[in-house]
Amino acid sequence: MQQLAQRATTLTPSLTLAIDAKAKKLKAEGVDVCGFGAGEPDFDTPQYIKDAAAQALAAGFTKYTPSSGIPELRAAIAEKLKNENGLDYKASQVIVNCGAKHSCFNVILATCQTGDEVIIPAPYWLSYPEMVKLADASPVIVETKEENGFKLTPDEFRDAMTPATKLIILNSPGNPTGSVYSREELQALAEVALEEDILMLSDEIYEKIVYDGTEFVSLASLSSEIYDLTITVNGFSKAYAMTGWRLGYIAAPEHIAAAIDSIQSHSTSNPTSFAQKGALAGLKGDQSFIGEMVKAFTERRAHMYDRLTKIPGVTCVKPMGAFYMLPNISKFGLSSTAFCSKLLDEQKVAAVPGIAFGSDAHMRLSYACSMENIQKGLDRIEAFCKSLKA
Ligand SMILES: Cc1ncc(COP(=O)(O)O)c(C=O)c1O
Repeated sequence: MQQLAQRATTLTPSLTLAIDAKAKKLKAEGVDVCGFGAGEPDFDTPQYIKDAAAQALAAGFTKYTPSSGIPELRAAIAEKLKNENGLDYKASQVIVNCGAKHSCFNVILATCQTGDEVIIPAPYWLSYPEMVKLADASPVIVETKEENGFKLTPDEFRDAMTPATKLIILNSPGNPTGSVYSREELQALAEVALEEDILMLSDEIYEKIVYDGTEFVSLASLSSEIYDLTITVNGFSKAYAMTGWRLGYIAAPEHIAAAIDSIQSHSTSNPTSFAQKGALAGLKGDQSFIGEMVKAFTERRAHMYDRLTKIPGVTCVKPMGAFYMLPNISKFGLSSTAFCSKLLDEQKVAAVPGIAFGSDAHMRLSYACSMENIQKGLDRIEAFCKSLKA
């Protein structure tokens, strides 16, 4: 039997998807599981978006589109980036991809190769290091501190830099930390990148999900020099509850957008034709759905945070965006994997071990689930922690 390529064998399978699958299997068997693994809104896609896609399908909009996406969607995204984010991109600089995961992958593939280093602040979204490895480049993981709200500081960034540094990945609001960088914090990091001409991938997929009046700032909007080094990634999955539709996008300087278009034209080709029509309707239609969803997340976040921080031995940085909490469970003396598998076995609560995100001191809980699930799940987590004794 022929051997697999090394890049395929050195990958770490996605632990979040694995935990989610295990919890779903137990549920299907009738076990009363409280699932906190979900990385997707528990809301349905708004009806007007579904209608637009259904109409496109019925009208026979079922053929190939340009690999970079339909022109009207690229134009609508460019308009959104201008109006909401203060970003000047032409439609030709926008490439629509098959989900923001695909967007990030194409960015890394287009910009990084053997010998290049990519700085990734930890805790990180678990696919970043694997994507970097798939591009034959090297991830450089930089641990952030809880006391800094899990945000990378300019000194930490500078210390991690070497002559091989090509790219830094910033994700604000962040998964799994929920941290949101302020304008000043982004500016300070970008200045470090500018000193050495380092590219910046700004993953802004959770931009709409921020709390307590927190301002979301789009990195490329800070100055024209920063814009020239930044590749903006965003998509429809989280803001429009469209995870299954697989639609994300990049906006970048012309030559990077062209390279990504080229990669895409030889790999996936266009994102699904009629799904693009749905996304177009999403951008053009009533946005009030997003506010309602964020309102629900706000209530759940308050409840989860309140309960978690009352459990002896558990501490938690308050998330300012996205829909995850990352409590520190290190006082219980177990690895995060041991803690989470014991929690699932004994209390039927599914959480994701922090090690999947580069921190063994934490577990990730998603609050994109019902309040009832949160209440019941937190009762169980509390009982579990008490049984372990910190
Ligand atoms: C930080 C981050 N970026 C990108 C993605 C991928 O989003 P999509 O479903 O659009 O591929 C996710 C999904 O969980 C995420 O958390």
